[in-house]
Amino acid sequence: MKRRELPAQTLRTIHAGRGFQSSVHLVDWNGSHAAVKDFSRLPPLFRLFIAPILVKREVKALRHLDGTRGIPRFFGQIDRLAFAIEYIEGRPLDTFKIGELAPEVFPRIAAAIEAMHARGVAHGDLKRRSNLLLTPDGEVFLIDFAAAIVARGPLSRKLMRAVADVDEKSLPRLKKFVAPELLTEEDQWKLENPTKLERWARKLLGR
Ligand SMILES: Nc1ncnc2c1ncn2[C@@H]1O[C@H](COP(=O)(O)OP(=O)(O)O)[C@@H](O)[C@H]1O
Ligand SMILES: [Mg+2]
Repeated sequence: MKRRELPAQTLRTIHAGRGFQSSVHLVDWNGSHAAVKDFSRLPPLFRLFIAPILVKREVKALRHLDGTRGIPRFFGQIDRLAFAIEYIEGRPLDTFKIGELAPEVFPRIAAAIEAMHARGVAHGDLKRRSNLLLTPDGEVFLIDFAAAIVARGPLSRKLMRAVADVDEKSLPRLKKFVAPELLTEEDQWKLENPTKLERWARKLLGR
């Protein structure tokens, strides 16, 4: 799909980005529902220099993961500032309060994260609960791969593994917030102990 065709195919805005955020629109993509993430309304300098890098990163990860359970299918890139993925009818996990998530959802989140890591991709931003969606039939999807690391060689694999460890903290963090009674000893350990990457970051920042 071309950029000029986009307005006519747009059904509604899912997420109106503010400031430096992209907007996400629900789009009719040859009869399927697509979520189009678009950075074209951003301030000029950011749009020119930063947004294309973010789009490239995210498209690279989504292409690499295409067909993985729990990850929206990649539909196509529109231009340097926008791309389309499968629309997931789901509720972002940041909208759930304590006691509102069924216990069986947690192993599904773990499975989605594991499937992604098994394909050599670390997410990097799963701490933000708005990057996980829960569908009405209880399926979990991971979205927002702007910070993702794809393992392609020995060095990027090392970084990917380090970020994957941080990804794995997102589940205990979520449990602590919405279902603290489900925290296991292993979860507690993960919450209390910084990962390698977190230790490096602390050293770097002198804390
Ligand atoms: N594939 C999708 N299906 C349904 N909703 C989506 C999809 N992708 C994004 N969204 C919605 O748009 C919001 C922002 O998308 P996201 O990729 O997380 O962008 P941002 O970088 O601004 O956080 C999400 O929290 C979700 O509500
Ligand atoms: Mg997000």
